[in-house]
Amino acid sequence: MLPQAFQVRAAGKETPDTFTLTLAPHNGDHANSFEPGQFSMLWTFGVGELPISISGDPTKEDRLVYTVRSVGKATHALVSQQVGSSVGVRGPYGVGWPVEAARGQDLIIVAGGIGLAPLRPVIYKVLAERESYGRLVLLYGARNPRDLLYRKELVAWSRTRDTQVLVTVDYGGLSWRGHVGVVTTLFKFARIHPERSLAMICGPEIMMRFVTRELETQGLTRDRIYLSMERNMKCGVGLCGHCQYGPYFICKDGPVFTYRQMQPLLEKYEL
Ligand SMILES: Cc1cc2nc3c(=O)[nH]c(=O)nc-3n(C[C@H](O)[C@H](O)[C@H](O)COP(=O)(O)OP(=O)(O)OC[C@H]3O[C@@H](n4cnc5c(N)ncnc54)[C@H](O)[C@@H]3O)c2cc1C
Ligand code: FES
Repeated sequence: MLPQAFQVRAAGKETPDTFTLTLAPHNGDHANSFEPGQFSMLWTFGVGELPISISGDPTKEDRLVYTVRSVGKATHALVSQQVGSSVGVRGPYGVGWPVEAARGQDLIIVAGGIGLAPLRPVIYKVLAERESYGRLVLLYGARNPRDLLYRKELVAWSRTRDTQVLVTVDYGGLSWRGHVGVVTTLFKFARIHPERSLAMICGPEIMMRFVTRELETQGLTRDRIYLSMERNMKCGVGLCGHCQYGPYFICKDGPVFTYRQMQPLLEKYEL
């Protein structure tokens, strides 16, 4: 439960309020290995601790990378860290995306806003082991072009074989030449084979509700649809009960769940 001291090795601006931090242990050790979709508890000295998904490449064992959107006190403190400063790290924790079960399958990744961060390690893994996976379809939506994460990588991914990258924004503005509309409007351009596909979704809950409905309409069963859930956390390891959601602790049983597990709860909270 004790945080390990990591040093900020790089800090890059993704959007006006979102930054990517690269951390490495102060003592030169390897960082703990992680599964795509897992999160760490990041502790900023004098401010507090919060859960943040690991957004980096799982094969790069000398570092942990996080993409953080500044929404309040703790996230603001994190994104304000300078290169060389210290951050406490616990974890990695939680159950990640089913990247092993997805071998040989097509993957449909649907992300909204900062939701692309926990899915980026899946994309790295699939592209690093391209022959082990089928087609990769990425549908990504943001509020406006300024809020799009990883712009250069989106272009690079779209140029790799058997990969379809579709991006949309809610409000395009005059200079935007791409799709405008919510992320579900991209499905009509996606080539999906439901019987051999797994879907992984991360974004605001309202977006995930609409995306799961669309995926069911496309023919995916609830066991083939995975969601990453967010709740306030304290301990991160299933002890305090802060993150309880129905019968589950998001920190320990998730944050990634099948839609079969989540559907009754999402319906209940919608009422
Ligand atoms: C498993 C897990 C993984 C996460 N991964 C990431 C990640 O990779 N990157 C990241 O930036 N965040 C991530 N989060 C969310 C992050 O932990 C919260 O944004 C953070 O705890 C907010 O703390 P704060 O003190 O900055 O804001 P607070 O002071 O707690 O909140 C300030 C305001 O922002 C609102 N708010 C809080 N959280 C969010 C949110 N997630 N989205 C929109 N509004 C919010 C609050 O309602 C409040 O109005 C993750 C959360 C979980 C549970
Ligand atoms: S955060 Fe304590 S039980 Fe999940």
